[in-house]
Amino acid sequence: MEQQVICGNCLELMTPELGLFDVIVTSPPYNLDIDYNTYKDNKERKEYIEWMAAVFMKAKDLLTPNGSMFINLGFGQPDLLLPLEVAKRLSEFMVLQNQIAWVKSIRIGDEQKGSFTPNNSEKYLSNNFEYVFHFTKSYQKIDKNNMSNCWFFPYTYLKSSNMPLTGLNFKPTEKEWLTLTEAHLETGINISAMSVAADKGWLKSNGERSKKRRIYGPDFNRWAAERTQKKTLDHPAMFPVELAEMCLKVHGCGVGCRMLDPFVGVGSSLLAAKNLGLDAVGIDIDPKYVAEARERLVADYGAWNEAK
Ligand SMILES: C[S@@+](CC[C@H](N)C(=O)[O-])C[C@H]1O[C@@H](n2cnc3c(N)ncnc32)[C@H](O)[C@@H]1O
Repeated sequence: MEQQVICGNCLELMTPELGLFDVIVTSPPYNLDIDYNTYKDNKERKEYIEWMAAVFMKAKDLLTPNGSMFINLGFGQPDLLLPLEVAKRLSEFMVLQNQIAWVKSIRIGDEQKGSFTPNNSEKYLSNNFEYVFHFTKSYQKIDKNNMSNCWFFPYTYLKSSNMPLTGLNFKPTEKEWLTLTEAHLETGINISAMSVAADKGWLKSNGERSKKRRIYGPDFNRWAAERTQKKTLDHPAMFPVELAEMCLKVHGCGVGCRMLDPFVGVGSSLLAAKNLGLDAVGIDIDPKYVAEARERLVADYGAWNEAK
């Protein structure tokens, strides 16, 4: 298993010499004038959309026929349509198979998990999500059983008979659910709440297969993952390692699978690939971020402990 980080312009570096990739997981600049060291994040709107089209057209050429491309895009007020317009432009040459809301902060009972930037605008609600667009070359089967990001389910969901665990016998009391949530928060949100519930014997199983379904049942397009804190890493816009892991899991990456991130920043997606045992290539235009990504890979930080 090998993770490689290359410094340079992805538009120039995405050549056939890199080989083919089964999955692309990336977060390009959002054109929000964010202070990336080298890249100036303030293109004229149309130019930005066309730049995105050029990059992802090239990326598509490096994708296997059954491959998946996950593109995380946020937005700023008032231009709420920009990420959607990028997605629309990309859908001229790829299939937009899924759109996912990455929820950055949720409340479970009295507990607020994750963070968001409050605003005191009279017009806008505080923004609490970003998009992850899942593109393919033609519709692909996804691996729903592999998804284990469950901590965002409030108790009311678990209690209801068919949402989201249709037909499943999962009924902890509210107190048990809170205990589970606490245990979960202690152990880190990378661990599935459902796994904890299974360990506690709250899941009744008719065999391994149904147990697995119960543990990994949810297949929503609303994913929760806490933003990576900036304490130890000098990058203004990282995504969580767990978010990239979710993408890889939905695609169903197995041994021998290769991942590409053309905007790798400080290497979060590469850590996800590493955690799942995949080969991966990351590209970033900024030497400082590339150096940090390399260090991060060598240090082999735990996916979530790094920020503490
Ligand atoms: C949103 S950040 C990605 C952050 C990354 N997901 C992480 O968690 O560290 C976008 C990155 O794109 C890089 N970038 C901008 N233009 C680029 C280009 N033409 N080629 C490669 N990287 C570029 C920036 O330096 C920045 O690190």
